Amino acid sequence: MKILLLPGDGIGREVTSQAVKVLRAVSANGPQFEIAEAAIGDAGLAAAGDPLPAETLEAARKADGILFGAAGTYESDLLPPEKRGGHGLLRLRKALDLYANFRPVFAFPELLGASTLRREVVEGVDLVVLRELTGDIYFGTPRGIHRDEATGERVGINTMRYTESEIRRVAHAAFKAARLRRSKVCSVDKANVLETTALWREVVTEVGREYADVALTHLYVDAAAMHLIRSPRDFDVIVTGNIFGDILSDAAAMLTGSIGMLPSASIGPTGKGLYEPVHGSAPDIAGKDLANPLASILSFAMMLRLSLGQPEAAEAVERAVRTVLAEGYRTGDIMEPGARLVGTEAMGDAVTRAV
Ligand code: NAI
Ligand code: MG
Repeated sequence: MKILLLPGDGIGREVTSQAVKVLRAVSANGPQFEIAEAAIGDAGLAAAGDPLPAETLEAARKADGILFGAAGTYESDLLPPEKRGGHGLLRLRKALDLYANFRPVFAFPELLGASTLRREVVEGVDLVVLRELTGDIYFGTPRGIHRDEATGERVGINTMRYTESEIRRVAHAAFKAARLRRSKVCSVDKANVLETTALWREVVTEVGREYADVALTHLYVDAAAMHLIRSPRDFDVIVTGNIFGDILSDAAAMLTGSIGMLPSASIGPTGKGLYEPVHGSAPDIAGKDLANPLASILSFAMMLRLSLGQPEAAEAVERAVRTVLAEGYRTGDIMEPGARLVGTEAMGDAVTRAV
């Protein structure tokens, strides 16, 4: 099994190297991996003059699984797109057609004190936000800022756009995922106002007829936001478009306490995928041994399960994470009174030992 490491920028490198320690512990007990590394983001621009160097894209096409760290910094965010580190990641997702972005939100019983929400609200939360990743208002044209000829005023324009086939494939992914969980899909749209999402609702409903064993419900995005904070346990799989998924998944993230706990998987048509923590390069804590590596380690577990066909190894990694949380190991972002404060490296070592 070929794994490509793309550490990228800032804490991306620090957290990915902890996942690699865990990977070595896993392969000591069975599955063998061939590991390669390539440059992306600001690091890609520095090494090869492009945030997505051609050889990185080629290596990504050949890999069975990609373990990505983070791309971009506040400085490069201000550069034109072709020099922007984060743009390298957007191009990679698009080039590999990684349309299904799974963001599981799981409230670890060992970590209920870390959320800002009351314990009785977050206890037992176990949901997945499935965000469509290659369409919607982020990619639709026309787009841009123009000067209106008649009034002289500037006008900003973006276009919300989905084709039937784009909706259909992500809907299938949602129903299949639900079958492996609690067989519930909640589709989120704004069908009362936006035609694009009225089509979304129609197509998801059609696809749902092929999955009679899965319960399908629909919510408008504003009501969904409210419901997610009020009674998050009601949700199993939430499927939604790119922009609603972006916003709802960040809100859902806070149910678990820290963005440093959240893994993700972005899967394409072949089942190969890119696995990455939900967080970015965190320039404020980079290089200080402060970053929580658990999101990266849990992303590797998702790769084992979804792209490499190693569910037992995935469970072993997830069990190890729960063990170290139960033993009281905490990085600063999830610190609780009386717990054992550790750095990035020590947290990675603890999980590796537990595996
Ligand atoms: P961020 O996720 O990097 O940081 C937000 C806050 O969360 C910061 O205070 C940071 O210290 C904290 N944080 C993030 N990950 C953490 C971890 N593992 N452990 C402990 N604390 C953690 O988001 P921000 O600040 O908006 O963006 C920073 C840079 O990262 C920007 O250049 C942005 O464009 C880029 N970015 C890249 C992403 C990616 O590669 N997928 C995603 C989001 C942002
Ligand atoms: Mg976001």
